[in-house]
Amino acid sequence: MPKNLIQQTLVLLKPDAIQRGIIGPIISRFEQAGLKIVGMKMVWVDKAFSKKHYSAHVDKKFYPGLENFITSGPVISMVVEGIQSVKAVRKIVGSTEPHQASPGTIRGDFAHHSYEYTDKKGIAIKNLIHASGNIKEAKKEIELWFKAKEIHTYKTVHETHVY
Ligand code: CDP
Ligand code: MG
Repeated sequence: MPKNLIQQTLVLLKPDAIQRGIIGPIISRFEQAGLKIVGMKMVWVDKAFSKKHYSAHVDKKFYPGLENFITSGPVISMVVEGIQSVKAVRKIVGSTEPHQASPGTIRGDFAHHSYEYTDKKGIAIKNLIHASGNIKEAKKEIELWFKAKEIHTYKTVHETHVY
């Protein structure tokens, strides 16, 4: 097995996903693709933690709305493992703006917010989910959200078919 192609990435189900009661169908999308969940917990983050997670965005105009959004309720954080999982997960998640996200993606199928609307209203774009943008980001984010002992090694029954 070319082990260097097996990656881990961070996925967050944002407060809108939890409050809308759609975490089941969202998580199913990753299971259906044969990706493996190796870490999972529910966390209600505070403003200081939000600034750490979104350190690349803290100075942006949309940050105050984003901080309000991500701290408005608990999130589910997950470590998702699989073949080149960083890109694979981003593809399943879809574009940042649900209005533009393709049908078949999580953001395209379960949401429809547009920048035009949220920018005028001064709120964050509610797009249900976060996924690390690249391998470097994934490593940094997994370290921020999970202790090493919270990430598990196990075999799925269908691993033979995926790997
Ligand atoms: O989440 P993703 O990597 O697709 O997008 P990002 O550019 O890293 O932005 C992080 C998050 O900020 C987005 O998922 C949105 O929730 C929010 N955002 C926003 O509310 N308004 C914008 N104009 C841009 C981003
Ligand atoms: Mg991002």
